[in-house]
Amino acid sequence: MAGETKTYLPPSCVSDVAHVKTMEQYADMYKQSVEDPGKFWGKIAENFYFKKHHEGEFFDYNFDISKGDVYIRCMEGATTNICYNCLDRNINNGHGDKIAFYWEGNDPMDSTSITYKKLLAEVCKFSNVLKSLGVKKGDRVAIYMPIMELVVAMLACARIGAVHSIVFGGFSAESLSGRILDAKCDILVTADGVYRGTKLINLKEIADEALELCTQGGHTVSSCVVVSHVTASIESCDGRHTMVWNKDVDRSWKDLMQSASSECDPEWMGSEDPLFILYTSGSTGIPKGVLHHVTGYMLYAATTHKYSFDYHPDDVYFCTADIGWITGHTYITYGPLLNCATSVMVAFEGVPLFPDPSRYWAIVDKYQVSKFYTAPTAIRALMKFGEEPIKKYSRSSLRVLGTVGEPINPEAWMFYHTVIGNSKCSIVDTFWQTETGGHVLTPLPGCTPTKPGSATFPFFGIVPAILSDEGVELEGPAEGYLVFKQPWPGIMRTVYGDHQRFERTYFTKFPGYYVPGDGCKRDEDGYIWITGRIDDMINVSGHLLSTAEVESSLIEHNLVAEAAVVGKPHSVKGECLYCFVTILEGSEFTQDLVKELKEKVRHHIGAFGTPDFIQNAPGLPKTRSGKIMRRVLRNVAKGNRDLGDVSTMADASVVEVLFKNRVEE
Ligand code: WTA
Repeated sequence: MAGETKTYLPPSCVSDVAHVKTMEQYADMYKQSVEDPGKFWGKIAENFYFKKHHEGEFFDYNFDISKGDVYIRCMEGATTNICYNCLDRNINNGHGDKIAFYWEGNDPMDSTSITYKKLLAEVCKFSNVLKSLGVKKGDRVAIYMPIMELVVAMLACARIGAVHSIVFGGFSAESLSGRILDAKCDILVTADGVYRGTKLINLKEIADEALELCTQGGHTVSSCVVVSHVTASIESCDGRHTMVWNKDVDRSWKDLMQSASSECDPEWMGSEDPLFILYTSGSTGIPKGVLHHVTGYMLYAATTHKYSFDYHPDDVYFCTADIGWITGHTYITYGPLLNCATSVMVAFEGVPLFPDPSRYWAIVDKYQVSKFYTAPTAIRALMKFGEEPIKKYSRSSLRVLGTVGEPINPEAWMFYHTVIGNSKCSIVDTFWQTETGGHVLTPLPGCTPTKPGSATFPFFGIVPAILSDEGVELEGPAEGYLVFKQPWPGIMRTVYGDHQRFERTYFTKFPGYYVPGDGCKRDEDGYIWITGRIDDMINVSGHLLSTAEVESSLIEHNLVAEAAVVGKPHSVKGECLYCFVTILEGSEFTQDLVKELKEKVRHHIGAFGTPDFIQNAPGLPKTRSGKIMRRVLRNVAKGNRDLGDVSTMADASVVEVLFKNRVEE
C-alpha cells in the first residue's frame, strides 16, 4: 500500500484561507490538545450553548482494564441539547434563512431544499409526534428510511432526549429486527418505499416482516410511523407499490405531522446521557450497538467537520454517504449542522452511476459544491467510465475532496486528485470508525502534505501508537497494531446493554489502550498508513462485515456442514466475500445450491452482504488444533499458490482440491 511515496502539497487556494495553514500551527494546536485537553476542548465548548456549565476536570476516564472498569466521561455535570445547538442556536445567531440542506432525489428532477428555520419547525413537530406516541427521554426509537425525513426524525429524538437507532436502508428484515430487539425500541419510523437507481425497495414490507420477527422474539413495537415517499399518500398505493396497513400499529407520518405543534422545548440533557446507538459488525457475528453520548460527540463532530474539511460559512458541502452509517450521522447531520453549514444530501447512496456516471459532478456544478466527501469504492466505480463523464462538468468550485471507509489505493487517490480534483484540491483520507465518533487520523486540507494512501497524522486530541504482538510500543518506522492511548471527546462510551463486550472488544488485548482492530505502518516521515483489519472482518465497499455472521447464515442451509468466508480483492468493492462451503456427505454441490446460499446470506444481512463467490470445499485447511487457516483460504481465493508456512496444517492434501475447485470471475 505504501508504494506511492511522492508528497503533494496543499494548493494555495486552500491554504491561503485555511483555519490551519502550516504544519507548525498544527503541531502547536495538537500539542495543546493532548497535553491540556481541558483547555483545548473547553475553548471549543464556548461556541456551543450549555444550559448548565460544567466544573472540574474535562475528562474522567480509565482505559486500563487491569485497574478496574473502563469508562470515559467528559464535561460531566453540564447540560445541553445537541438539536438546540444544531438549529435554535444558529437561528438565534441570525441564520434562520440559511439553507441547511439541498436534497437531491434519486430522480434528478426531484430536488428540494430546507432552511434552518423550516427544519426546526419540522423537527419540533415530529418531537411532539413522538411525545404523543408516548416516547420519553431515554427511550429508544428505531429509524429505517434513507430519505430527507430521516434527519427530521433523528433530530427530533435528540431534541426530546430519546435515543435514536438508525438502521441502514439496505439491511434485511432479519437485521432490522435484530437491532430493534437488542435495543428494545418501542417505535419504528420508516417509509413506504424508496428508489435506488431504477429499483424500488419496498421498505414497509421489510419493516412489516421485521416487526413480525420482533413479536416472535418477545418484543412488540407499539407504533410504526410511515412516511409516504414513493406514493403521494398512504391511501394511494397503486399496483406498483402495495402496502399492508396494520391499523393497530401503523401511523401515517403526514397525518400525525399535520396536527402537531411546531414548537417544542428541548430536553436539557446531561453531558453523559446517551444520544444514539448505531450497530456495527462484531467479530462474533452479532452486531454491537455502539453508544455515543451527547456532549463529547457534539464537540468532536463539530470540530472534526470544521478542521478536516476546513469548513467555512460560505462553503457548500456534499457528503455522498447514507445517514444509516456513521459517516452520515457525523458528517451529514450533526457536524455540518453544528457548524451552520449548507449541505447537499442525496438519496442514492451506492448508486453514483444513476442515471449516469456524471451525476455527482452535475450536482457539484448545480450547487457549486466546495467540499466533497465520498468513499474509495465510489471513486473506483467512477474510474471504470474514464474521464469523459467527469470532464463534462467544470467542478471548478471544488477545494477539498475527502475519502473514508477503507484504505484508498494509490491509483484511486491519484484519479481523485488529478482527474476529479483537476490537481487543484486537497485530498483528505480520513481514517475513523463508528466507535470513534469522528475522524481520528486525517490530513488537514490547508497544511498537511499528503501521500497517496496514507491517512497521515492524528487529529487534535488523538494519541496513536503502534504496538508489537507483545504489546510493546514501537518507535520510528514500524508496523503493528494501531492503538490509541487516551480518550477524545467522540469515543464511544459502551456497547449498548453489554459493557463487558465493550471492554473485551476494545480494551483487553492491550490493557491501557483503545484497540480499533486495524493494523498500520509508520514510515520514515512519521506518516501513518492503515494496512487493513487485524480481525476477521471484511470491508466490502466500505462496509464492515463479520466472517462469523456470513458463515452462520451459510451453515443454516441444511446441506452445509461447514463454511469459511474470506475477503478477496475486488476492483470496485475493495474486497468481496469468497465463501468456502463443505456440504454433507452424499449431497451434490450444484449451481442451484450456490444461488440458494447467496440468497440466504442476502436475506440474513441485506443486499450489500451478498457473496460474490461460493466454492465447493470438500475439506478446509485447519491447524492440528482445528482452527481454520484463513490465510491459506485467502490465497486460494486469489489463486496465489505461494502459501507461505503451512507446517501447522493438519492435512495439507485439502489445498490441492481447493485450488482445483476454485471459482473464477
Ligand atoms: C476502515 C467508517 C483505511 C477501518 C467511518 C475501520 C479505513 C473501519 C478508513 C471502520 C481509511 C475506515 N483508511 N481504513 N480512511 N476509514 N476504514 O465503523 O478498517 O463503518 O476500522 O466506520 O473501516 O468502519 P466503520
